[in-house]
Amino acid sequence: ESTLGSAAKQSGRYFGTAIASGRLGDSAYTTIAAREFDSVTAENEMKIDATEPQQGRFDFTAADRVHAWATQNGKQVRGHTLAWHSQQPGWMQSLSGSALRQAMNNHITGVMTHYKGKVPQWDVVNEAFADGTSGARRDSNLQRSGNDWIEVAFRTARTADPAAKLCYNDYNIENWTWAKTQAVYAMVKDFKQRGVPIDCVGFQSHFNNDSPYNSNFRTTLQSFAALGVDVAVTELDIQGASSTTYAAVTNDCLAVSRCLGITVWGVRDTDSWRAEHTPLLFNADGSKKPAYTSVLNALNAA
Ligand code: G3I
Repeated sequence: ESTLGSAAKQSGRYFGTAIASGRLGDSAYTTIAAREFDSVTAENEMKIDATEPQQGRFDFTAADRVHAWATQNGKQVRGHTLAWHSQQPGWMQSLSGSALRQAMNNHITGVMTHYKGKVPQWDVVNEAFADGTSGARRDSNLQRSGNDWIEVAFRTARTADPAAKLCYNDYNIENWTWAKTQAVYAMVKDFKQRGVPIDCVGFQSHFNNDSPYNSNFRTTLQSFAALGVDVAVTELDIQGASSTTYAAVTNDCLAVSRCLGITVWGVRDTDSWRAEHTPLLFNADGSKKPAYTSVLNALNAA
């Protein structure tokens, strides 16, 4: 196969990208995105500040633009993200306690109802754990609303769209030896034991010099999958875009039957949130980088 999406499909997986609505008028961008990928994540448009700018007033203008582009081009959409400490609109930042809890649930229900049946996989909760060696939850207004906020978010999401796969999504949980990884693993294990509805874990996979790829990522993916959840690589970018590392990540997903697919966090290096790292698969001029070829070859070899 000659594109990432069709190559991934050979093993029943998808290969996606983040799409920014502001770039949909750039035909060089949409040409590559339409050709190569079969899954789309809105880079910012489905986040809380974008979809509920004023409390109780939902605005799906930009999110629908991304969703429509994806649908018109035959791509599935990963929903990102419903409950997060970051990119909260001002009104939510100032809420706490039961008022925040209620607003969180109302937000999850409002967004998932709008996309019911149209977004098969949602990042319900994003980045709820702290970096470093503590293994603790990240401090936030959501965390201060009660330690059960994550499971409440998942239960609310299951009710809103029972057919959607519900994911927990985070970064720096790829390295199996890291405390943050073990803390998320313990949470998922506990959720599965207690029947909290969780279906998948998203590993963002923003690899850079401070948090480099480690070959124990495969152990991480296998260990989570063994708990009875699907896994996915959800926001992949690699500082310097080493072909070897891109191929290794691809092979890690391919080695785990419950790995649903891979999403890279943007199309060209110039589209990246870390453009200075040149971390993606396409150059600024739209040409394919060596890492592109290594990923495609790995997918075709599976
Ligand atoms: O839209 C405004 C624009 O109107 C304004 O002129 C401009 C001035 O700064 O800001 C624009 O908003 C920016 C937005 O991206 C769209 O470009 C925000 O400031 C900027 O903060 C925002 O950054 C996004 C970041 O999440 C925010 O947390 C990145 O694009 C996006 O790639 C990044 O994605 C996150 C995932 O959601 C979660 N995991 C980590 C990942 C990388 O940080």
